[in-house]
Amino acid sequence: MQIVRSIKDLRFAITAWRQNGQRVAFVPTMGNLHAGHIQLVKTAQQQADRVVVSIFVNPAQFGPNEDFASYPRTEQPDQAKLADCGTDLLFLPSVVEMYPTPLQTQVSVKGLSTLHCGASRPGHFDGVAIVVCKLLNMVQPDLLLLGEKDFQQLAVIRTMVADLNIPVTIQGVPTVREADGLAMSSRNSYLTTPERQHAPLLYRALCATRDAVLSGSTDYQSAIDRQTKILQDAGFLLDYFRICRSADLLPATENDAELVILIAAKLGKTRLIDNIYFTRGNWARAKSEAAVTGA
Ligand code: PAJ
Repeated sequence: MQIVRSIKDLRFAITAWRQNGQRVAFVPTMGNLHAGHIQLVKTAQQQADRVVVSIFVNPAQFGPNEDFASYPRTEQPDQAKLADCGTDLLFLPSVVEMYPTPLQTQVSVKGLSTLHCGASRPGHFDGVAIVVCKLLNMVQPDLLLLGEKDFQQLAVIRTMVADLNIPVTIQGVPTVREADGLAMSSRNSYLTTPERQHAPLLYRALCATRDAVLSGSTDYQSAIDRQTKILQDAGFLLDYFRICRSADLLPATENDAELVILIAAKLGKTRLIDNIYFTRGNWARAKSEAAVTGA
């Protein structure tokens, strides 16, 4: 695995591959790699000749009171994991390489960026959008892989890429979970032992809410309230817990079939996010058939 720290060396390596007609996939990360990240790399390998991974803890996406300084930085084990799974190139830029002068340009996906996580973390998605936009201009990959674990981030980047005509295909990769259902995340390492035991309840609440909807309930608020109570009793402080339309992340109505349940909650000092998306296929079909037949 080749490791480069400058944009110049990155472009040099990738230009050579491109001249040989090779297809390049790109996996941006902030490091502290776990099996979720590695799954993105493995998926990338199936679709491309070369896989580029970046590790950059991006200061632009952290708020003033967030964990930028303490975010886990584990460069050596990360390098070993990436080399083991056959990554071709690791890009490890410094903050100065990425942001040599204060930014005068903003990339802001309006609307989407102010919902859900964007409401609790003002400016977060602008920071994500600018860094991903810059990285895409540096790497110029054919394929960009992002995790569905960060469902809103995926929606923001898809919108940015479409709006700016960035020539890249985006592939979302399903969330990789621990055996007990907890979505893998670099921030799970902040959890204390008792918190870690309670953490899988988040995914259980998502599944129970999905099952209530799939069994025909259209009283979304009651389904959410039931699970909210269970989570609060277990010590979670909920930020949001909503049933939304997966297309635009706005509140779902009973007429919507493509749904995502989004949740964010604090357990002690750790902020966890998760989601589950699904289709109310049969229900929606039955309803539209009823409309056609006038039933
Ligand atoms: P990071 O949190 O390191 O995540 C890097 C990528 O891994 C993201 O696309 C994320 O959705 C994906 N990922 C994380 N946990 C996952 C899991 N359990 N299963 C599947 N995929 C998972 O997301 C970021 O970094 C940054 O915001 C970044 C996009 C790199 C921009 O700085």
